[in-house]
Amino acid sequence: INEEALEPRAPVVTIMGHVDHGKTTLLDYLRKTNVTAGEAGGITQHIGAYQARLNDKLITFLDTPGHAAFTEMRARGANVTDITVLVVAADDGVQPQTIEAINHAKAAGTPVIVAVNKIDKEGANPEQVMNELMAHDLVPEEYGGDTIFVQISAKFGKNVDQLLEMILLEADVLELKADPTQPARGSVIEARLDKGRGPVSTVLIQQGTLHVGDPIVVGNTYGRVRTMTNEKGQDIDAAKPATPVQITGLNEVPLAGDRFIVMADEKTARAAGEERAKR
Ligand code: GTP
Ligand code: NA
Ligand code: MG
Repeated sequence: INEEALEPRAPVVTIMGHVDHGKTTLLDYLRKTNVTAGEAGGITQHIGAYQARLNDKLITFLDTPGHAAFTEMRARGANVTDITVLVVAADDGVQPQTIEAINHAKAAGTPVIVAVNKIDKEGANPEQVMNELMAHDLVPEEYGGDTIFVQISAKFGKNVDQLLEMILLEADVLELKADPTQPARGSVIEARLDKGRGPVSTVLIQQGTLHVGDPIVVGNTYGRVRTMTNEKGQDIDAAKPATPVQITGLNEVPLAGDRFIVMADEKTARAAGEERAKR
């Protein structure tokens, strides 16, 4: 690692929690507010990840991939998440998948920020949620612990800015950095076959800068980056660490969690891809 080339990068956040506790509503709210505040042109694309902005600082959110997908990605060696936001509905409390999510975060070694959601609802009991989570080692700061709790209403956007602030605060503590000068490497978030465009993959750049034209090896496949699109649907030429982009140009559809790395030339990428496929 070249210490001198390290630059601060955006935190990468996964939202987890029990069924119907409000993960999608929270993501949708963030996306919506991001768009209205956002740059002209382009249409928000569902590429499986996107970036929110608070006071000029970016936060990368991964669309909640579901717990099974998360496990699979980790099994392939992808360690993409810096911070887990655990959504718990204040009218439903800790449920089986809440506990599963806590275990995922523990296994991945990421800090957890608790978003106690649906506080607008009658019957909401945030205190009860806090008490239940303490049994799982998530102790709020006001009780002497070190877990950040934010009470939100994803539906109405209440305290969502505060949640973003807390994510950035936690990110500061983690001192997240990457070297944008290296050949890019990162992980596949999701991928599919498009009839017209061939394999289309959303990748997260974790080191270096990815450029259109770069020869890459991805899991057991390889190719050359033909097009690169951001979550606003804009074509871009280069993408820095912590940026999610959709790329085309691979020979086959990779798997979520596959790692990618830019190679010196396409021949080397092809050889590396074919070698990996044999294993
Ligand atoms: P799965 O993806 O199925 O696990 O659910 P989810 O966690 O994505 O929950 P989703 O966002 O689909 O929300 C479930 C229901 O709760 C929807 O009807 C939402 O409108 C509602 N909901 C989510 N957040 C809030 C909130 O803050 N307040 C209220 N009143 N309703 C909410
Ligand atoms: Na739901
Ligand atoms: Mg959902």
